[in-house]
Amino acid sequence: MAATTRQREQWSSQTGFILAAIGSAVGLGNIWRFPGVAYENGGGAFLIPYLFALLTAGIPILFLDYAIGHRFRGTAPLAFRRLHKNTEVVGWFQIILSFVISVYYAAVIAWALSYFVFSFDLRWAPDSLNFFVGDYLQVGDPEISTQIVSGVAIPLVVVWVAILVTLALGVAKGVEKANMIFLPLLVVAFIGLVIRAVTLPGAADGLNALFTPDWSELFNPAVWIAAYAQIFFSLSIAFGIMITYSSYQRRKANMTSSGLVVGFANSSFEILAGIGVFATLGFLAWDQSTTVGELEGLSGPILSFVTFPAVIAEMPGGSFFGLVFFASLVMAGFTSIISILQGVSGAVQDKFGFGVRQSAVGVSLVCAVISIALFSTTSGLIALDTVDQWANNIGIVLSAIVMTVLLVWVLRRGEELRFHLNAVSTFKIGRWWILLIGVLAPLLLGYMLLQRIITLLTEGYEGYPDWYLLTFGWGAIAFIVVVALILTALPWRAHRDEEGFEPWPPYREGGSGAATARSADGPDGADRKGTGQ
Ligand code: PHE
Repeated sequence: MAATTRQREQWSSQTGFILAAIGSAVGLGNIWRFPGVAYENGGGAFLIPYLFALLTAGIPILFLDYAIGHRFRGTAPLAFRRLHKNTEVVGWFQIILSFVISVYYAAVIAWALSYFVFSFDLRWAPDSLNFFVGDYLQVGDPEISTQIVSGVAIPLVVVWVAILVTLALGVAKGVEKANMIFLPLLVVAFIGLVIRAVTLPGAADGLNALFTPDWSELFNPAVWIAAYAQIFFSLSIAFGIMITYSSYQRRKANMTSSGLVVGFANSSFEILAGIGVFATLGFLAWDQSTTVGELEGLSGPILSFVTFPAVIAEMPGGSFFGLVFFASLVMAGFTSIISILQGVSGAVQDKFGFGVRQSAVGVSLVCAVISIALFSTTSGLIALDTVDQWANNIGIVLSAIVMTVLLVWVLRRGEELRFHLNAVSTFKIGRWWILLIGVLAPLLLGYMLLQRIITLLTEGYEGYPDWYLLTFGWGAIAFIVVVALILTALPWRAHRDEEGFEPWPPYREGGSGAATARSADGPDGADRKGTGQ
């Protein structure tokens, strides 16, 4: 396999990287998670823990992901192996976690694609709830169903084909292009939606419901936990995805400034979505002569696929609103899912030496089959809900704790990574960064994880049977660990000779000042040195 000598793929520009990173961050989580979470956790007052979480954990851990990927120039498994030969498994844990998320995330994009089509004749009216769970998903009991629902399976195949083609075109021509097209379109479409929403009757009441602060909630630890959880999922951090994306950056690239742009762009989109969604809900309440507080189904799939369709059916010009809304969901979801799959496909290339196309086809086919088998059946919605709960509340939090503790305390590479970011970027970070990622983040995340494990063990989840939670919830986590161990144990086919890899710029403990200056005239073609990177 010739992969050891192949040049690493690259973004065609800094803007390409930033757009792709924003595309990954802005996803279904922004549109259907944030508004509901903010509303349930203190409304306007939630913005305080939310911004606090963004500044103390979101952006610092985003920087950490960037530093690892950019300095060690690999997808998560390769980058972690270059950090230390025994830590590759952490990278695979993140990659398999992403893989698990991708198989159900694709299903939601497929639903949105179907609903885009249904918008033409408002097919869900008059009873959008029964239409969604009954006519469309044909939801049955929590069981392992083998009965495929063709209405879901067909758009799901379309989604996987689109993913396969994008990945096969490579980082610059596929992933970057897709983001260049879809992200601006998404922003325009969404701003249009928000303008329409805030001009509907009742919109002001909706916004009041969202933003009226309930200050007493600030003393509730659950609210702070919700803020941190939202930031993690929303910024796509600790999934190995940002490690992968930054490994395709040139050696000299302004990393921290890009991170700030990405972090604030994502949160702005999130708040915009909150405004759009709640203005629309205000209209629904007005239409039904009730208050927003009395409405149900304000977050998650139900918000997007039941409550929103119900509003759309009542609204003048609803069809058009529906088309734009579901197109936005598809675009936001698509630019996120290709980032997840690029992480998986890139990792397979790095370790096994497959080419871009080979691994795009292989990875997409395997994911597509699993995705269709599990999530287009009559038990798809329940499986999705369960896997999502465990992947996001256990898997990702565990990943972030392990990653921060490992880097700062076990390998003691915090200073080196800080040096790296400062050497290549214009926005310099101080020692506070190490305190945030090494102390504050692991403590808070550890507390969150413990709380969540206790709740899931004592209260179960949504009343689903124990055997079901054991299979799809805890089973998903066990699956991730086992597959990560197996992949780590397999021999490397590419990048065998890692002794030759030299991180650039060179770091000497205690010598950061001089090295910073040197980096300015460092080798542009450095990517060609070392192990053929
Ligand atoms: N950040 C994306 C969202 O808000 C979801 C996502 C999670 C994307 C994990 C990539 C990885 O929907």
